[in-house]
Order: sequence, then structure tokens, then C-alpha cells
Amino acid sequence: MPEFPFDRKTPPFAARAGPGAERSGGALRRGAMTPRLPLVLVAAVARNGVIGADNRLLWRLSSDLKRFRARTWGKPLVMGRKTFQSIGRPLPGRETIVVTRDPGFSAEGVFVVHGLDAALALAQARAAAMGAGAIVVAGGGEIYAQTIGRADRLALTEVALAPEGDAAFPRIDPAEWREIRREPGGRGPGDEADFCFVDFERAKPAG
Ligand SMILES: NC(=O)c1ccc[n+]([C@@H]2O[C@H](COP(=O)([O-])OP(=O)(O)OC[C@H]3O[C@@H](n4cnc5c(N)ncnc54)[C@H](OP(=O)(O)O)[C@@H]3O)[C@@H](O)[C@H]2O)c1
Repeated sequence: MPEFPFDRKTPPFAARAGPGAERSGGALRRGAMTPRLPLVLVAAVARNGVIGADNRLLWRLSSDLKRFRARTWGKPLVMGRKTFQSIGRPLPGRETIVVTRDPGFSAEGVFVVHGLDAALALAQARAAAMGAGAIVVAGGGEIYAQTIGRADRLALTEVALAPEGDAAFPRIDPAEWREIRREPGGRGPGDEADFCFVDFERAKPAG
């Protein structure tokens, strides 16, 4: 199976010019065009759309945690304040950008921003600085709902459970999203449920 092309070298460009160059007054100005790196939502989602309850996950899937680590390694992660607090620490090997409306919020080892536009702009800048090929939205429900309209890809783990919960992944509109890969997960001793890795690509441009 080919790996999901998170790091493909042809990110969607806001506009096309030479590499990092723009014509201005007859001169080429380097760095004026910044490529927009793909925005990828990564989530583990139950059959009923639930992703968590009481600010925690509802299943233990160590295979999925390994997959999450591999898929997000070396990339900036945008997450809501509640998800950050449920994880409790910055994840190693990645840069964490926490979104909150609370001007007094601070936490060690993370970037704190107060709006989604600011979070995504910072993530783009950090991805460029880190040499990452994508930026990742890592939840939770509120943040997925506010970013799915701008996302380029969804990298989901479909979990074969339907638990009650208070956080959910937004509806995936089949007119907007095309499933491009489905790989059954190999359930191991650390996995409480069957699961499947499913990737979607945007079928029509983000609105
Ligand atoms: N299954 C999965 O893959 C997965 C992944 C991640 C999380 N989760 C689960 O999802 C649940 C958490 O999700 P959630 O929806 O409750 O919370 P969340 O999305 O993690 O965080 C919500 C918080 O983000 C901040 N926020 C949201 N929109 C904002 C905006 N536009 N500007 C500034 N700040 C904004 C607010 O923080 P303030 O209140 O501080 O202002 C808000 O309370 C947990 O159960 C967690 O375990 C599951």
C-alpha cells in the first residue's frame, strides 16, 4: 500500500510563480509567494461520529496511537485547549499550537493563539520552518468542525464502536470528499476494537 502522501512535494500553491519568487516592477522578489501547505485533519472516529466524552478518548487503540505518531511526526499540530488539556503535555517531535479564547491561558512548551486564523497562519509558518510537508489539525470536535471546510485531506481511523459521547467529528459530505484509501487495521493485543484507516481527499475546492 502506498503511504498517504502527506509530504508530497507539490503542495497546493495560492498562486504560481517560480520557486518562492514573484515578479514585481520587473524584478524577481524572492520569498514573496509562500506555498500553502496542505491542511490535514487527523482523527479516530467511531461509527456514530463520536470522538470522545468528558474530555477523554473512549477507547484504547495502541496501534492507532503509533499510526498517529508516525503521521504527525515533525509537523505542527493545531488543537483546541480542551484536547491539549486532555493530553496534558506537548507531544514530542511535533510543535503544538493550542487555540483558546482565554487571554490568560499559558502552558509550557506550546504556542498559544486566540483564534483559528492565527493558529493556521502560525502552523503554516512553523511547518515551513520545520521543513514539514503538511499541517495537522488534531482535534477536538470544535476545532475539527471549524477547520473541515478549509482542509485538504482527512486521515481518519474508523473505530468499530458506537459509544455515547459529547464530542464528534463533523459530517463528511460525499459531494466534497472522495475516499482515496481504505486499509483494514491489524488488531493487536493493545487494541480494544477493530479499526480501519481511511483517507479522504477534497473532491471540490474548499469554499
Ligand atoms: N478521537 C480523536 O481522534 C480525538 C482527537 C482529539 C480530541 N478528541 C476528543 O475530543 C474532545 C475534546 O473536543 P472538544 O470539542 O470538547 O474541545 P476542543 O475542540 O479540543 O477545544 C475546544 C476549545 O478550543 C477553544 N476554541 C475553539 N474554537 C476557538 C476559536 N475559534 N478561537 C479560539 N479558541 C477556540 C476554546 O478554548 P477555551 O475554552 O479555552 O476558550 C474551546 O473551549 C475530548 O473528548 C478529546 O478526547 C478526540
